[in-house]
Amino acid sequence: MDDTQHFDDIIKQLQEKYTKIDQDTDDHLYGLLYSKPITYWDYIQTDALLNLQIQRTTLPDEMVFIAYHQINELIFKMILWEIQQVAEKENLNVEFFENKIMRVSRYFDMLTTSFNIMREGMEIEQYMKFRYTLTPASGFQSAQYRMIEFASTELINLIDYRFRKTIDRNTPFEHAFEHLYWQAAGKDYKTGKKSTLLVNFEKRYKGDFIRFMQTYNTKNLWSRFKELPKEDQQDADLVKAMRHFDYTVNITWVMAHYNAAKHYIESGTGDGEATGGSDWKKYMHPKYQKRIFFPELWSEKELENWGENI
Ligand code: HEM
Repeated sequence: MDDTQHFDDIIKQLQEKYTKIDQDTDDHLYGLLYSKPITYWDYIQTDALLNLQIQRTTLPDEMVFIAYHQINELIFKMILWEIQQVAEKENLNVEFFENKIMRVSRYFDMLTTSFNIMREGMEIEQYMKFRYTLTPASGFQSAQYRMIEFASTELINLIDYRFRKTIDRNTPFEHAFEHLYWQAAGKDYKTGKKSTLLVNFEKRYKGDFIRFMQTYNTKNLWSRFKELPKEDQQDADLVKAMRHFDYTVNITWVMAHYNAAKHYIESGTGDGEATGGSDWKKYMHPKYQKRIFFPELWSEKELENWGENI
């Protein structure tokens, strides 16, 4: 095919495309005449991105803290992006499912192995100073982290163990919300009083969370897995990928986070309290929480020993 023929063919395809959506092809071709050639910085929005790191103090290591949290939020976004595709996929099959779970796992592997950037990347003296300007905020208030949990498993697996028997599929979402495991970080169970950390978080996100919980109630990763034909649910590679994801999110990442927190909070230079005010040691350790997205994929013994000996 010579050039003219080739151009004619493209014009014909463009005409078909624009006719379908009631548009004049020539207007769009004129638009091309005046459009700006793309550059890396316009496309990636580097100027906008690099202007989002605003310190509250003059301490240089606060920049590490801000940038690393932002990197985490970007990766959380990519994780939700992949999970959403599984949630919405028509005619879901094992290959697609496994491929997406592996993508999500790689992101979490990266977040886990990079946590040393937090643990070793800031001077303790600096951290112990700038953290005073952050109270009562905490990474606890990362909405995307909570959304990853809602999108991964059935709600019952995110309910505080003490209340699981009182909650089933007919329980209103509002009630389930009040008994999510993470309420324990900010609620005094004797008085029911919520901490400022939790009050602020709910004021901003509760409505969004309830809607998200409803949406993912039937299309979270576990529900979609159970929709696969029985033999596909036995697929060794898929089961391995699901277990890897569960273990990485709920043990490896949690432990990397716990160790970083311990490194600073227990450094002996502060009051040993978390900025969000939780009973952090007990709250954060996986052996107490036993958060598990896919309990049916683990043996009795593995469930019992969840988060032990690590
Ligand atoms: C030096 C670094 C860090 C320290 C000392 C730290 C400390 C803590 C503490 C003590 C909590 C418990 C809630 C509270 O009372 O504040 C918490 C929760 C949390 N943090 Fe961090 N954190 C650090 C870095 C990060 C990073 C980089 C992320 C990534 C976004 C993050 C995400 C979270 C999340 C999602 C929770 C809630 C976890 C749960 O509910 O189990 N943290 N953090």
